[in-house]
Amino acid sequence: MKNILITGGAGFIGSHVVRLFVSKYPECRIVNLDKLTYAGNLLNLKDIEDRPNYGFVKGDIADGPFVFALFEKHAFDAVVHLAAESHVDRSIANPMEFVHANVNGTVNLLNAARKHWEGSFDKTRFFHVSTDEVYGSLGADGLFTETSPYDPRSPYSASKAASDHFVRAYFHTYGLPVIISNCSNNYGPNQFPEKLIPLFIHNIIQQKPLPVYGKGENVRDWLYVEDHAHAIDLILREGGVGQTYNIGGHNEWKNIDLIRLLCKIMDKKLGRPEGTSVNLVSYVRDRAGHDQRYAIDASKLQQELGWKPSLVFEEGLERTVDWYLGNKDWLEQVITREYLNYYREQYENR
Ligand code: NAD
Ligand code: DAU
Repeated sequence: MKNILITGGAGFIGSHVVRLFVSKYPECRIVNLDKLTYAGNLLNLKDIEDRPNYGFVKGDIADGPFVFALFEKHAFDAVVHLAAESHVDRSIANPMEFVHANVNGTVNLLNAARKHWEGSFDKTRFFHVSTDEVYGSLGADGLFTETSPYDPRSPYSASKAASDHFVRAYFHTYGLPVIISNCSNNYGPNQFPEKLIPLFIHNIIQQKPLPVYGKGENVRDWLYVEDHAHAIDLILREGGVGQTYNIGGHNEWKNIDLIRLLCKIMDKKLGRPEGTSVNLVSYVRDRAGHDQRYAIDASKLQQELGWKPSLVFEEGLERTVDWYLGNKDWLEQVITREYLNYYREQYENR
C-alpha cells in the first residue's frame, strides 16, 4: 500500500494512528482527512506536520463530490476510517450529527472507494474502526466476541452499528475488501476532556467536582491508545478481508475504582495530601440508557495475529497523567467557549 487515507486523524486515536504510520512507513504517503470539529486538533500532530510523507486535508467525509475528488487526486489504495462523532453524552443531546458523520460519512467513503477501486479490489483495503458499544451492555459475566449479537443502546452506538452494517454490506454485495475492528475504551494523551479520564484529570487540576454518573458501578475495559494504534496497523497488514477483530485491554475497571486510583496518582503528582482529590467526587444523575458493562474477548486477534496490549493499566494511567500535567497549554487550548457551554449544559444542575 502506497497511498493511505486516514480519516479523523486530528482526533484522539486518529492522531496516534497517523503518527505511527507516518513514522513507520516513510515510503507511503499518508493523507489525513479531518473536518476539525471541536474534537479535532492539529496541535495533536505538531511533531510530524512537516514530514514529507504526510499531508492534511480539511473536509467533511459526508461531502460526496469533495471525497470523490480527493480519491481521484491521491489514488488511495487503503483507507483507515476513524472520523466520527464519538461522545455518547453528545449523541443523547444531538443524535442527527451522529447520523451525518458516522452513517452518511461512512457510506460516502465506501461509495468513493468502490468507484475508484473498481477492477483492483485485490490491491486495496477499507479498514473501518468501530467500537465495542455496538454489542450493547453486559451483565456481571461474559465477554463480547466477534459473533456477539448487535444491540446498540445509545444514539452513538446505534450510528456506529449502522456504519458497521454498511461496511459489511459493501463486502457481501460488491466485494469491497473491508476489515472491521471493534475496540474497548481507549485512554492516553490527546483525549478531549469530555471523556471520563481527561475530564477528571482537568477537574482535579482545577479542584472542581468530579461528576460520577449513578453509583459509579459501571464497568469499562481500558486500553492504552498506542496499543490500539499498533493493533490497527497489524490488522491492516495481516488481517483477513471481510473479517472482524475485537480489540481490548483485558482490563476491566469499575468507574469508581478507576477514579479512586486516578485521584491517588494525581494527589501524588500534584504534591497534595492523599485524599484531597477523592473528596471532589460528586455522585450525579446517571447517563440515560447507561450501559452497565463492556468487556472484550480479544483472543481472535491474539491467536491469529499475535497482538496483545503492552502496558499495564497503572503504568498507562500514570503516563497519561504525566502527559496532561506536562501539556497544560494543550489543555488550555481545548478549553474553549464551546467546551465551557457544553460543560454547563451537561453538568450544571445535574
Ligand atoms: P475523537 O472524537 O477524538 O476524534 C474524531 C475525529 O473525527 C475528530 O478529529 C473530528 O474532527 C473528526 N470528524 C468528526 N466528524 C467528521 C466528519 N464529518 N468529517 C471528517 N472528520 C470528522 O474520536 P476518537 O475517540 O479518537 O475515536 C476515533 C474513532 O475510534 C471513532 O470512529 C470511534 O467510534 C472509534 N473508537 C473510539 C474509542 C474510544 O475509546 N475513544 C474506542 C473504540 C472505537
Ligand atoms: O467502549 C468504547 C467507547 O468508549 C467508544 O466507542 C466511545 O467513543 C468512547 O467515548 C467510550 O465511551 P464511554 O461512554 O464508555 O466513555 P466515557 O469516557 O464517556 O465514559 C466512561 C464511563 O464513565 C461511563 O460509564 C460513563 C462514566 N462517566 C463519564 C463521564 C464523561 C462518568 O461517570 N462521569 C462523566 O462525567
